[in-house]
Amino acid sequence: MCGIVAYLGKEEAYPILIKGLHRLEYRGYDSAGVALIDEGDIQVYKCKGKVSELENHVGENSHHGSIGMGHTRWATHGQPNDENAHPHQSNKGNLAIIHNGIIENYATLKEELINRGHTFQSETDTEVLVNLIEDIYRHAKVSLAEAVRISLNEVVGAYAIVVMDRDNPGQLIAAKKSSPLVIGIGEEGDYYIASDATPIVEYTKNVIYLEDEEIAVINRDQELKIMNLQNQKVTPYVQELEMQLEALEKGGYDHFMLKEIYEQPRSIKDCFRGRMNLQKGIIKMQGIDDNKDQWINARRIIIVACGTSWHAGLVAEYMFEDVARIPVEVEYASEFRYRNPIIYPDDIVIAISQSGETADTLAAIELAKKKGAHIFGVCNVVGSTISRATHSGAYTHAGPEIGVASTKAFTAQITVLSLIALSVAQMRETISNERLYRLMAEINSLPDKVAQVLESNDQIESISEIYKDVANALYLGRGNNFPVALEGALKLKEISYIHAEGYPAAEMKHGPIALIDENMPVFVIATQDESYEKVVSNIQEVKARKGKVIAIVTYGDEQVKKLADYTIEIPKTDSLLVPLVAVIPFQLLSYHIALMRGCNVDQPRNLAKSVTVE
Ligand code: F6R
Repeated sequence: MCGIVAYLGKEEAYPILIKGLHRLEYRGYDSAGVALIDEGDIQVYKCKGKVSELENHVGENSHHGSIGMGHTRWATHGQPNDENAHPHQSNKGNLAIIHNGIIENYATLKEELINRGHTFQSETDTEVLVNLIEDIYRHAKVSLAEAVRISLNEVVGAYAIVVMDRDNPGQLIAAKKSSPLVIGIGEEGDYYIASDATPIVEYTKNVIYLEDEEIAVINRDQELKIMNLQNQKVTPYVQELEMQLEALEKGGYDHFMLKEIYEQPRSIKDCFRGRMNLQKGIIKMQGIDDNKDQWINARRIIIVACGTSWHAGLVAEYMFEDVARIPVEVEYASEFRYRNPIIYPDDIVIAISQSGETADTLAAIELAKKKGAHIFGVCNVVGSTISRATHSGAYTHAGPEIGVASTKAFTAQITVLSLIALSVAQMRETISNERLYRLMAEINSLPDKVAQVLESNDQIESISEIYKDVANALYLGRGNNFPVALEGALKLKEISYIHAEGYPAAEMKHGPIALIDENMPVFVIATQDESYEKVVSNIQEVKARKGKVIAIVTYGDEQVKKLADYTIEIPKTDSLLVPLVAVIPFQLLSYHIALMRGCNVDQPRNLAKSVTVE
């Protein structure tokens, strides 16, 4: 949600900022802008639309300077237009700011500033903040860093900001609360600031993740200084980045989404590599082993997550209850945080988040923490806010996911959650050795099975051609394939803008069946497991109403093949793991349909990759 990037050093800032904005664009693409200081002047270029539109807008105009900032926006306050685009300047024009987050008390602050003579060009909370800083800077006669500190003490909300002053072209001030901010320390006094490490990795692997309520003061050719909102000095903690640059490129694929779908055999393997010893029947998960007593004695597991991560949680519920025999509740983080939920100290709360930044999930964690539960994080982005806010956790190791629609993160989350469930089951002695070995062997064979499904891409593309113009679609599945139906529907609607619903197959007759006619494609997961015969009956019900059935079936299936309009075969696996294989055709189907409809697959409208606002 909004990407921010800034640079101070010896090079021209503009190319670094533009490249950084392209890398950050997955976070929001409503508008983009840059500000540079050159020869005592601030040049600001900003416009509605994507970073490429900003580049056209800048064109041949002067864009020099070795200090600057850039922003790509996902609109919260105000329309996505030129005025509301960042950077914003203060009334005097001397300060420029970029901001990710929301200033909740901006209306009150704005009123006070208007009373003191400030005027506003945009509807944004950010313009309020930069004017507040300017007001204090001018009247209190303090340093810019001090003005930022005093201002942030008056602010309620979330922010990651960078501020620069036209009259001091050798300084950047950065601060954060609840929105992430990383500082890269390059060679020879080059500093990079960004919402995540993707614009930085190319220049340096030495980074500092700013903590909440910290302010970094970066002066040209000087050591960076950090203080907190109480004006106490903080010693910077420099970490080494593990991210590889190639992971941020499309690598020959037309879209990041397709690349990430195809990466799944590898990402699933990376997820269990080093964690599973098949010969000895041992699963080694540090975050679990370190908190063995808590897991053995857990009264309940509460999973909190949003979107696709919530679907992964629903799949995991089946696994945990079946093998570890712990009751599980799966909650939308956004709903959970606003209830007064009953949480016991012997509950374990698992927070699942690809980005590790989702504001609602973070808030749910804070709530559960206050109530004394042990919080376990399952995140993909290393060093992310959620991974640091939890007591323990496990990374999914899927690598950067750039396509806005989540694909490889989903399968990695289910894989890691399956390992956790098996590890806990082993500790609690709720699984036989024979079943444990069998499930571990099945997990080990998943990369090959997913690779086999990917070979059906051409067939899935042909099916996509047939259904690309429908207005609605229904997805059905039973048991742990019901969340796969939800995920299939979400993938279709978010990137192709076709209305789609996911339902437990048996629920169809309680309402949705009324929708079925000859125009309605119904995507059904009909793999051979305990509920197979029941799903076959559901397919018959759809066919009786002239609906079109596209079924995902186990290799060699004959019965559904006779009933369905089209079948897509997937390899057999343990019924607890079927979602990992069954979801792949749905991912490919959405990709192809979106592409055929001319939609922007990697950057669907109105969406952003990490949702750092409520
Ligand atoms: C769907 C999608 C979103 C995210 C959701 C949670 O394709 O990407 O629904 O799954 O916003 O994001 P994370 O997992 O980063 O917390």
